[in-house]
Amino acid sequence: VSLKPFNTFGIDAKATSYCNISTVEELKSILEQQYKNPFFILGGGSNMLLTKDIEALVLHINLKGITVESETDDKVIVKAMAGENWHDFVLWCLDNNYGGIENLSLIPGNVGTAPIQNIGAYGVELKDVFVSCEAMHVESQTLKTFTKEDCKFDYRESIFKQELKGKYIITSVNFELGKTSHKLHMDYGAIKDQLKLSGVTNPTISDVSEAVIAIRQSKLPDPKEIGNSGSFFKNPIISKAQFEKLKKNFPEVPSYKVSDESIKVPAGWLIEKAGFKGKRFNDYGVHNKQALVLVNYGNAKGSDIYDMALLIKKTIKHIFDISIETEVNII
Ligand code: EPU
Repeated sequence: VSLKPFNTFGIDAKATSYCNISTVEELKSILEQQYKNPFFILGGGSNMLLTKDIEALVLHINLKGITVESETDDKVIVKAMAGENWHDFVLWCLDNNYGGIENLSLIPGNVGTAPIQNIGAYGVELKDVFVSCEAMHVESQTLKTFTKEDCKFDYRESIFKQELKGKYIITSVNFELGKTSHKLHMDYGAIKDQLKLSGVTNPTISDVSEAVIAIRQSKLPDPKEIGNSGSFFKNPIISKAQFEKLKKNFPEVPSYKVSDESIKVPAGWLIEKAGFKGKRFNDYGVHNKQALVLVNYGNAKGSDIYDMALLIKKTIKHIFDISIETEVNII
């Protein structure tokens, strides 16, 4: 089975076999038979680079459904099943005037994989609206609820990427969203600029969503046209001392304060400065509008893209003495 339609990088890796999972009961019974044999969990396929064939049964999590669990005058708890497309879920929330995730518009992937890396954009992270998630324990096939604290969210991190990696499969996520007097997140300069450009003076959550969509479309390649997995690397967080050193050599370096001792530097800037922006090698390269995004122009092999990523990482280390880590899962 070719996995090309199931990963946004568009890599033509093969899987030994493939199974579509559309109910929690199905997931349970497949795991009962299968959990001792090799299997591979596939969600939206938007945050992975396949560098080889998958010698395992691929379980494609396609659990669907969105329900209102409870509500008060100004808040609502919404449960979305893991296989719901993330952006479709954002649009559903906007249709119902539920606020909180409009800044996360157009992020590729599914609801169930969003908590794994605590997706984030334009000043909002998933953890800001996350209440809990349900996940199936692979070995015992029982469901467990994880609270926000249980998940140990951090910048593009959670317990599901660390100590529980491969041990649980998220089946649904509960979100707390606003119903009235929405608190808009517009600290990110580009959102204000975009709203101004569109002549919006009193923005609604839908206006913010549209602004985010416009910004993303201007910088990020559409995976339907050019294969990619969004940001390939995480933005490195460095010590204040290291930042001072960097700033001496590169006074124009952009940065965000994380704490009194640490500073985040945009990896996209480092990659651009190192000369990789818009570089093309055969069928793959670095996006010309956002250097943090690596792209597959057609039939690139995952291993070629991975080698390019290693070259970028090595060059950044050499020029800036900064180690950058991949954000995308390398398979
Ligand atoms: N920059 C450059 N050159 C580039 C790209 C960026 O100089 O080629 C500079 C920009 O000028 C800006 C800074 O880097 O000063 C930050 O750029 P941008 O606002 O595009 O955001 P980012 O830090 O590159 C992060 C997230 C994105 C998210 C945006 C917006 C990570 C790894 N990436 O990117 O998330 O959409 O902020 O909030 O944190 C993703 O995770 O897949 C993703 C797309």
